[in-house]
Amino acid sequence: MGERGRLAGRAGIVTGASRGIGLGIARRLLDEGARLVVTATTQEAADRAAAALDAGDRVVALASDAARRADVAAAVQACRTAFGRLDLAVANAGIERPARLIDVTDADWDAVMDVDLRGPFLLTQECARVMGDGGRIVLVASTNAFAPEGGSFAYNVAKAGVVGLARAAAIELAPSGITVNAVGPGLVATDMTASVVSEASTSAWYLDRIPAGRFGRPGDVAGAVAFLVSDDAGWITGHHLVVDGGQTVGLDLPEPASEEQSVSIGGRS
Ligand SMILES: NC(=O)c1ccc[n+]([C@@H]2O[C@H](COP(=O)([O-])OP(=O)(O)OC[C@H]3O[C@@H](n4cnc5c(N)ncnc54)[C@H](OP(=O)(O)O)[C@@H]3O)[C@@H](O)[C@H]2O)c1
Repeated sequence: MGERGRLAGRAGIVTGASRGIGLGIARRLLDEGARLVVTATTQEAADRAAAALDAGDRVVALASDAARRADVAAAVQACRTAFGRLDLAVANAGIERPARLIDVTDADWDAVMDVDLRGPFLLTQECARVMGDGGRIVLVASTNAFAPEGGSFAYNVAKAGVVGLARAAAIELAPSGITVNAVGPGLVATDMTASVVSEASTSAWYLDRIPAGRFGRPGDVAGAVAFLVSDDAGWITGHHLVVDGGQTVGLDLPEPASEEQSVSIGGRS
């Protein structure tokens, strides 16, 4: 598709695009014709992503701490300087510091809130101040926002905040023609989830609960983001689009093993 795609002529930012879901989002938006500033915590990581994306001068790589206002403002400025415009922004950068409520330290709570909640706030605010009619902001939340997982306390709370942020911002920015939506990935195989996916017992436990029968791929999330930043989603705002292979839809019952068992499951036969 490239320069003739759905996002031809658009320019924007994807934070945390050096690996995993962010890299997948950047690849998809470039494929659809966008020009992008891609960020990571170091210039080296951002440069590596730009090299992997192989889109020439349609990509600018920038070290930008998602939790620092000056860095976020610099990313917004870099997009406007390089491409003369800012049409879309994807707040994808995120971290996880597993701990239960009882154990979570102040340092881990602060680190997660800084990157996972303050980060999307800063990007949304900095973009909203300069974006015009047709602006598109997408925040990467999580199914943890409404289906929290024990042992990820701060992360669960931050992601619930991200959905709240998308909804509150959507109300205020709709009159300016800017949409703000969230995407909610389920379990996507990336560095963040490597310990779960690569360990046989946790991997099997999760796969049992994903009706689609596989873990997510970065491209699954990227497709949803590409839709939300496109003209096709112009009248959608404040939405949390869940991308989880059905994991949080509900429960499927196992096939009854015998006639007797089928009677005992909820009295149904
Ligand atoms: N994987 C899943 O199952 C899953 C599910 C739901 C939601 N999510 C969300 O999806 C997003 C991406 O997750 P992922 O699985 O792709 O994670 P990942 O593989 O660990 O990648 C995280 C990305 O965020 C960047 N990053 C971290 N801290 C940053 C900071 N302070 N400033 C700028 N960039 C920063 C990293 O850059 P460096 O390379 O420089 O460290 C990297 O590009 C996160 O918001 C995550 O919470 C993931």
